[in-house]
Order: sequence, then C-alpha cells, then structure tokens
Amino acid sequence: MALLPDRWGDSLLTAKQALWWRTMGRHWHFKKFARDGGKEWLKTALSRVRQDAGPGPLAILEFGCNAGNNLYTLRQDPATAAVTYCGVDINPKAIAFARTRFPSDSFHVGDHGWFIRHADALGSFNLFVASHILYYIDEKHTRLVLEAACRVADYILVVDRMERFFDNSPARTGLFFHAYASICNDIGLDVVEMEAMLAPGSPYGYFLARSVRSVNAQQEGLPATNVRSCAGLPLTTEPCP
Ligand SMILES: C[S@@+](CC[C@H](N)C(=O)[O-])C[C@H]1O[C@@H](n2cnc3c(N)ncnc32)[C@H](O)[C@@H]1O
Repeated sequence: MALLPDRWGDSLLTAKQALWWRTMGRHWHFKKFARDGGKEWLKTALSRVRQDAGPGPLAILEFGCNAGNNLYTLRQDPATAAVTYCGVDINPKAIAFARTRFPSDSFHVGDHGWFIRHADALGSFNLFVASHILYYIDEKHTRLVLEAACRVADYILVVDRMERFFDNSPARTGLFFHAYASICNDIGLDVVEMEAMLAPGSPYGYFLARSVRSVNAQQEGLPATNVRSCAGLPLTTEPCP
C-alpha cells in the first residue's frame, strides 16, 4: 500500500475493511447485539435532539447499524423506546437478523457507496447515527457520507476514534482517524457536543453536530422537521403539526 498513491491506498483499505465485514465479520452481531454497556452517549444525544424536535417519536437513521444493536439499547428504555428507525449496513446477515428482531423498522443492505447514492430517498430524520463505522472508511467517502446525512437529518452523531479531531496532519494506521473538526467545518456542520473519550481510557469518543438544514429551520422559526422515515411512512419534510 505504501507504494500506491494515497487515494488508491485509501480506496483499497476501505474495500478490504468492507470485505472483512462481509466475510469474517458476518456473525459479529451474535456476540454484540444485546451488549448494552450503558451507551450514555446515545441517551445524551437523544435528549439534546429532543429539545429541538418537540414531542412525538424521534426518527433515527443509522449507517453501519449492524443488527440494530443501538436500536436494541434504545428499545430497552421506556424513555427512548418510541423511535422510528431506519438502518443501513453492508452485512446481509446482520440486516436479516435485525429484520427478525425489529419487524416494524426499516433496514437496507448497503455499503457507503449505496448510502451516498440513496440517502436522499430514505426520508427525513431527526438524528443520523454513525457508530464505530467511519474509521473503516476513507476520508473522501466519510465526507460524502456525512454530506448525505446532513441533507436528510437535523443532527449528526458520530462515535469514533477522536484523537485527530482537531488535527489535520495525515495519519495512516490501517484505520482512518478523521480530522472531524475540519470536515464538519467544510460541510457546514455545527458541533454542539464533543467527548474525546466515552469512558476514562477509552480510545473512542463522540460528537454531536447540527446540520445546516436544522439551523436554518430554527432561524426561520420552524420546529425541527417532522420525520417521515423509511419505515413505510410517506416521505415528507413538512414541519411538525
Ligand atoms: C464495529 S460494527 C458497529 C455496529 C454498530 N454501529 C454498533 O455501534 O454496535 C461496524 C459495522 O459497520 C458495518 N460496515 C463496515 N464497513 C461498512 C461499509 N463500508 N458500509 C456499510 N457498513 C459497513 C459492519 O458490517 C458492522 O455492522
């Protein structure tokens, strides 16, 4: 890889990671599906999103959803159970498992390219979630995924390695540690919360950002968009009744 131009190396590494998840990682959900672990970051993000969205079920779009592990966590807690949910993942076995567990929710098999091409058709959401997924995807495609997410969701929640959050120097480690501050700035995402570590010593952190469409809606005095998710509801971006 070191002999290839960076962009080729990055594309190859992204493809290699994707292949791993379709093959070696295809049964990962059997170990991880119901492992809750608190996930305070998810609840914190939801309560922040709730402040803008008002009453009514929040609609969530998750990219790299696996078998709906995060949805499982939300549904365990009565305070967060009432969400509508659309999940996308590259792994057909995880998606098949998710469909059996959550028959009323909506799931799609798709990789990052699929998501970039189809996000606009998925509906309109209060929150987009990408948890433990973007470090498998090169910067070019991570930007495109987040740009697509910004068009369809009011808030963006990313759980990832955050060590390069403020740093633009290149780092090629086998995974992609993204310079999120600059990516968010470039694509018009306003970071409202950032935690470098989910727990003391954890290599993972998260950030929550507001998309331009959410900031514009608030400036115009509109409530956050009412969400008609891909769970079979009509697609619309009309304000909440
Ligand atoms: C570490 S798991 C995280 C799953 C879930 N988001 C969670 O937090 O429990 C990574 C997930 O990303 C999916 N994935 C990996 N590369 C992908 C890609 N290029 N496009 C879509 N999904 C991908 C895998 O199939 C897997 O379900």
